[in-house]
Amino acid sequence: MTLQYTDHELTMHGHKLTDIAREYGTPLFVYDETMIRKQCHRFQQALKASGLNYTISYASKAFSSVQLFNLMAEEHMGLDVVSEGELYTALQSNVAPDRIHFHGNNKTDSEILYAIESGVEYFVIDSLDEIARIDRLATRQVKAVLRINPGVEAHTHEFIQTGQEDSKFGLSIKKGLALEGVRRIEAADHIDFMGVHFHIGSQIFESTGTVETVKLVIQWLNENNIHIQVLNIGGGFSIKYTDDDVSYPIEEGIKTITDAIKSACQTHDYPVPELSLEPGRSIVGEAGITLYEVGTIKEIKDTNYYVSIDGGMSDHIRTALYDAKYEVRLVNREEPHDKMMTIAGKLCESGDIIRRDIELPASIQRGDLLAVLSTGAYHYSMSSNYNQMLKPAVVFVTEEQVRPVIKRQTLAQLIQNDII
Ligand SMILES: Cc1ncc(COP(=O)(O)O)c(C=O)c1O
Repeated sequence: MTLQYTDHELTMHGHKLTDIAREYGTPLFVYDETMIRKQCHRFQQALKASGLNYTISYASKAFSSVQLFNLMAEEHMGLDVVSEGELYTALQSNVAPDRIHFHGNNKTDSEILYAIESGVEYFVIDSLDEIARIDRLATRQVKAVLRINPGVEAHTHEFIQTGQEDSKFGLSIKKGLALEGVRRIEAADHIDFMGVHFHIGSQIFESTGTVETVKLVIQWLNENNIHIQVLNIGGGFSIKYTDDDVSYPIEEGIKTITDAIKSACQTHDYPVPELSLEPGRSIVGEAGITLYEVGTIKEIKDTNYYVSIDGGMSDHIRTALYDAKYEVRLVNREEPHDKMMTIAGKLCESGDIIRRDIELPASIQRGDLLAVLSTGAYHYSMSSNYNQMLKPAVVFVTEEQVRPVIKRQTLAQLIQNDII
């Protein structure tokens, strides 16, 4: 991230964040465009080095916007979408429909028809009933991979084998549902079986869980004489939110995973499939920050020191949802972090907190600007109009320019669907 203090003010690629906030207002999402492109390159280079055939689909749920998807097209990335809305947004961009994969554990008939008409590359089928529904609705051959549940769950450093039988996603290998799914797709009239998909978790720091899963899946495919063209291993690669986290070591991790695939295929004399990845958070997460203006400050003696900002859980839900932790910086001055405080949102919920118990400069006052770091993934895309808050604007920054990508919502847009 090219975020740094220059002459005691926080800058991105040399642009002062105070100037950007003045022009576009706050709350504001600011992305380092160069960093997004770099993350795409890192995955591509790592996969290229493995010698495997590969595709990478950006998981659009992390942050969907037409301009971001155009950038993905420029970087030769495909897209993974999970709803009619994500597909619609993707189709307004330069990403070719045959680079889009359609996911979801409860696709509606109209979503299936929309995806077929749009010419998406393949469906990621998630249930037995979906097989019959796609086969019935398809008027021509469509491609599909089957989302299987390998019974492995991984988050951060840990993974649990057989930890995830109770999941709304995928079909369980252990319970025989995955094999039943493969056989039904193979027997379907209008569906070409392409392969299998799994996604074992999120914010995964290292590769052990994925490696174990890959071994298990290839053994299962071989034992059951299932032939695949594509092995899609999902996303879930970690990013650094605070010093307690590490960014997934993309180069080393992808090498470990691809080596494991090659070696498992060799062991079982099984043909090496094309590898598909779906990273979301690791592409955009660390590249994005949120700028807020400080408002009311409330000291509760011997208890807490609340600094409230002009946004909150309507644009930053992950602290309330997962007790997630974030780094925060004072933008318009560089000063020692010497006072413990809580950064709170302005919405009517006690749980509307951005960051509890963080040391920041004691001098913080009304009108100052704060930057919350690593908010590029699952922030704008999870934003809401709770308390009729307006969805913020989004800008992309490179050395050369600051360009608007999404406009701030307007008050009129808030009631545009109201019957008045
Ligand atoms: C099927 C699937 N693929 C990819 C992703 C992207 O995960 P991440 O943003 O952690 O890379 C998710 C996230 O939930 C997912 O469910």
